[in-house]
Amino acid sequence: MTQVLSVASEVAPIIKTGGLADVAGALPAALAPFGVTMRTLMPGYPRVLKALKKTAVVARFDDCFGGPADLLAARVDGRDLLVLSAPHLFDRGGGPYLSDAGSDWPDNPERFAALSWVASELANGALPDWRPDIVHCHDWQAGLAPYYIARSPAAGRVQTVLTIHNIAFQGLAPAWKMAGLRIAPVDFTPDGMEYWGQISALKAGLVFADWLTTVSPTYAAELMTAEFGMGLEGVMRARKANFSGILNGIDEAVWSPGTDDQIQPYKTARGKAANKAALQQEFGLAEATGPLCVVVSRLSEQKGLDLLLQALPALLDRGGQLALLGSGDKGLEAAFQRVAGPNVGIRIGYDEGLSHRMMAGGDAILVPSRFEPCGLTQLYGLRYGTLPLVALTGGLADTVIPSTPATMAREVATGIQFFPVTAQALAGALEQLCDLYAQPDRWTKMQRNAMSQPVGWDQSAARYADLYTKLLAAA
Ligand code: ADP
Ligand code: GLC
Repeated sequence: MTQVLSVASEVAPIIKTGGLADVAGALPAALAPFGVTMRTLMPGYPRVLKALKKTAVVARFDDCFGGPADLLAARVDGRDLLVLSAPHLFDRGGGPYLSDAGSDWPDNPERFAALSWVASELANGALPDWRPDIVHCHDWQAGLAPYYIARSPAAGRVQTVLTIHNIAFQGLAPAWKMAGLRIAPVDFTPDGMEYWGQISALKAGLVFADWLTTVSPTYAAELMTAEFGMGLEGVMRARKANFSGILNGIDEAVWSPGTDDQIQPYKTARGKAANKAALQQEFGLAEATGPLCVVVSRLSEQKGLDLLLQALPALLDRGGQLALLGSGDKGLEAAFQRVAGPNVGIRIGYDEGLSHRMMAGGDAILVPSRFEPCGLTQLYGLRYGTLPLVALTGGLADTVIPSTPATMAREVATGIQFFPVTAQALAGALEQLCDLYAQPDRWTKMQRNAMSQPVGWDQSAARYADLYTKLLAAA
């Protein structure tokens, strides 16, 4: 058995702000059939500590970046967790990264350096009875772990992997924090973790990890370009030989229309009708002649939903409807609330149950992202026969087969893609969607294609397992 320590700042279903949590939560079970034992190290936010039933203190750290900390071992829903209980870092209100007022916690660099440091301690034998072969780090919050490990006795003995879920978040800290973050001045260089005069925890991981992955092949290629690399494209190109794109899957135990207890379960797309009626009622929408489009999303620049505000008339003029669930940017929240009306239902907030009902009841799911490392909601859409209309970028490009005469003839089309990512192109795609919806034969065929496309973890879990094996063989 390969022993892997996964290091993540959020893990579904315990604590989640986005897709990272879904992936970190699903990997252990997905990898188990491949001979991988995965334990997950995560922060002890109040909500996490509350979710633990039987715990044991397995290690103590007297000086964990400003205070003492306990490492707790616990099992939650079959996941083998190591929880860093450090009250001075994690015992507070708000969310994992932001205060209730919506600003970053000022000590985020220390909070996640501590998590990364403990990963390195585990790689160096902090537990008497368990040591990982591989430390698999997720995003900037775990970015310093490969660095600490590279500068520790475990260097070369424990292999490190960093997965980039989103390069927009880079974990920057002012240079004066260097000593407090246990970073040696020799490593604070442009070849190391310096980024325009600041410390970048993500860059530390990009430079020091043995292998890098990101969550789709197209995003892997995009990350090496100035358009998508967000200033780190040079680093990505330099690491090209040790970098791969592995597509995310979805947790089919949670997202399957046949067994979903949040909806009226169905096996074929015909079963969507009852869910659609229920969803229209839940959003206060009447019956309509056009498609009911749904959006479940963080409201941020990345997701391109400002373009949807502009393109919306193209959908509504053709008798279509929109139901949106999301939260985030206050300006976007207000703008969507302003367009609410007889054919537009808006819910500002975060609601897991409603997100399932929307997936079951919608005709189509809209994901007009400017960039999208993988994206999970279009995958839920495929699984639920809710046709994805997506921007041609990142994981959206890799998972949706656009409707063209050729793909329709071969019966493989599963959705609609548009490019460039502009309001005008989105409006054109919405018109195409309405045209297709008006041809029930075609629409039903696409639903069938979509629902039979594999979107689970099998293939990608095999790729991670292969990667671990390859790294251990090369070590
Ligand atoms: P990202 O991680 O960039 O936010 P993904 O598509 O990978 O994008 O993952 C988003 C996840 O968060 C999905 O599981 C989606 O259903 C969920 N989600 C986003 N916003 C909400 C919301 N307002 N309510 C419930 N679930 C949400
Ligand atoms: C990030 C990305 C999203 C991806 C998710 C899980 O939050 O924005 O595209 O699906 O991570 O990897």
